[in-house]
Amino acid sequence: MSAPRTIGIGILGFGTVGQGVWKHLTDKKADLESRLGVKIDLRKVALRDPKKSRAIKISKSKITKNAYEVIDDPNVHVVCELIGGTTKAKEFTLRALNQGKVVVSANKALLCGHGPEIFKAVRKHGGQFLFEASVAGGIPIIKAIREGLAANRFELIVGILNGTCNHILTRMGEDGLSFADALKEAQELGYAEADPTLDVDGIDAWHKASILAWLAHGKWAPANRTLVEGIRNIGPADIDFARRFGFALKHLAVIQRNFEKNWMTVGVYPALVPNRDILARVSGVNNGITLRGDVVGATTLAGRGAGGDATASAVIGDIVDAIAALTGNSKQGLSGDDLVAREKQGLEVRMGDLDEIISPFYLRLSLLDKAGVSEGVYKIFSKHKVSIARVIQYEHPNKGRGTVTLSTYPVSERKMDAVLKELRRLKTVLEEPFLLRIFNPES
Ligand code: HSE
Repeated sequence: MSAPRTIGIGILGFGTVGQGVWKHLTDKKADLESRLGVKIDLRKVALRDPKKSRAIKISKSKITKNAYEVIDDPNVHVVCELIGGTTKAKEFTLRALNQGKVVVSANKALLCGHGPEIFKAVRKHGGQFLFEASVAGGIPIIKAIREGLAANRFELIVGILNGTCNHILTRMGEDGLSFADALKEAQELGYAEADPTLDVDGIDAWHKASILAWLAHGKWAPANRTLVEGIRNIGPADIDFARRFGFALKHLAVIQRNFEKNWMTVGVYPALVPNRDILARVSGVNNGITLRGDVVGATTLAGRGAGGDATASAVIGDIVDAIAALTGNSKQGLSGDDLVAREKQGLEVRMGDLDEIISPFYLRLSLLDKAGVSEGVYKIFSKHKVSIARVIQYEHPNKGRGTVTLSTYPVSERKMDAVLKELRRLKTVLEEPFLLRIFNPES
């Protein structure tokens, strides 16, 4: 069969990202057509509510409410799934893949929840599933891992993967905004998910971390073996501690891989990052990812991690790859062989346990203001051989309680968990202790 000379693009969903793709693909069409040697036909958009007011206007003849009209159109070769969610998105994705089409997706929840099924359909029908836009917005991290850094095995991938969290933490830390106001701003700027709890509770970052872990190590991290924490409980004392001791507060995704013992750990949580580390300087909506590869050393990529334009840039990058593959210029997607090799690699990896994850910790405690209370707390640390590095006590005169913030030397998650369990039992500890990990770039 000869390669098609006109490539039809269909879009499902016309929210922030869908509109960005339409706008920029229209603007860059002539340039891309001459580079790729094909005609690009932006054929149709399926959307739920045609009456809704949108920044990007398109002719009525290009709009349908019926997604099947886009997916089943024989002249649509590339289907961009930009509706989000997992129910309809999964049905539409599989329907297109079962016809051997290319699906370009920004949907991390879908890939994370149904990756094996999606790639089975890719293998069976010879289509492609491209997902650059699902992780870190405009940063081409998927391409970097698969292609540019293919020579490497990664013992550490650590990144700021949620633009909304980073925007909130930056605005709270640098400009004194409240959590609620900073979140509202992120929503208005189009960074947040339709349900922003996915952002602030760490789920969005977990989906992205899970995709990177699979791509780098061939294994999907199960939810019950992944540490997932959000940023809701961060307060002024934590920001103050960070400022005094030279840290930035960041929401990190950390994927560690031990090649000797063959384990992998995946965690997403707020952490204190030393100001000297490049990730501490990734602020606002930006995402940043440091990959420590055995050949290249540490490489960091940074850029806008959310918002219509940045994500559209990644979607269009995938469309260009798809066109190149469809017209016989190259095969860019994950091929059947590539997928088989990845799965084989994953079979050898086990999820690491709590003794294997080691870092310094930060803890904020609300304590009864009475002689001897601190001693009771320190005894627990010493019983579990957890060594304290720094302490600050804040006085709240006449309130009967005080705040203590402290940091530890590196210990295992298991030891710290044991300390926390005992602290919770003390009557003098008045609130749930608040724990942060401290990222140590040298470890
Ligand atoms: N809500 C996501 C974020 C958008 O804030 O990073 C991109 O996935």
